[in-house]
Amino acid sequence: MLTIAVFGSGRGSNFEAILTAIKQGTMPGARIACVISNNSTAGILELARQNSLPAYHLSVKQFASDKEFIDRTLALLEEHEVNFIVLAGYMKLLPQPVITQYRNRIVNIHPALLPKFGGKGMYGHHVHEAVIAAGEKESGATVHVVDEVYDHGMIVLQKSVPVVPGDTPESLAARVLAVEHEIFPEAIRRLARGESAASARTLPAVHS
Ligand code: GRF
Repeated sequence: MLTIAVFGSGRGSNFEAILTAIKQGTMPGARIACVISNNSTAGILELARQNSLPAYHLSVKQFASDKEFIDRTLALLEEHEVNFIVLAGYMKLLPQPVITQYRNRIVNIHPALLPKFGGKGMYGHHVHEAVIAAGEKESGATVHVVDEVYDHGMIVLQKSVPVVPGDTPESLAARVLAVEHEIFPEAIRRLARGESAASARTLPAVHS
């Protein structure tokens, strides 16, 4: 069973897609234990509350030291018996001890076809602007395992979309987001079946 903590900083549409899959019973072996955000006004926290899920605002700024923040984060995860972490629009790097403790059990969604257009500074509209500026014919979304380097870990699932003439960062973002909502639940579904991200190595990356 994947007992999942979802971390996010924004509106939470990917979280909602995962939640919908769970509610519809199409993701057996996975449940959401809690939602954590560095942003007290994030839509993702509101969505969690509406769905009667434990929702926490947790930011390093609330603590006297990094260590206290990390200790609280790990304690919360333990309290909720979390064994898997989903980053759904989380704009911070997870602290090293969290990555170490959940090695191969953390996934993120990125709005481009990694390894292209990833790394520090490549988030939100910056990604889509860069894709358009580079004259790419396609973009897409990638679910990958999280390690210490931004957008770097093993790719679990990927799906492309066309970049069309006249695309703006907004129009491309909308097309990519629709695909994110497809592949994020699907990736977690597969991982729930295989029990760990490491076992997903045997899965082919989908690129259609
Ligand atoms: C998504 O585009 C995701 O790829 C990126 O942040 C955005 C989060 O959107 N990492 P939402 O909060 O899931 O709606």
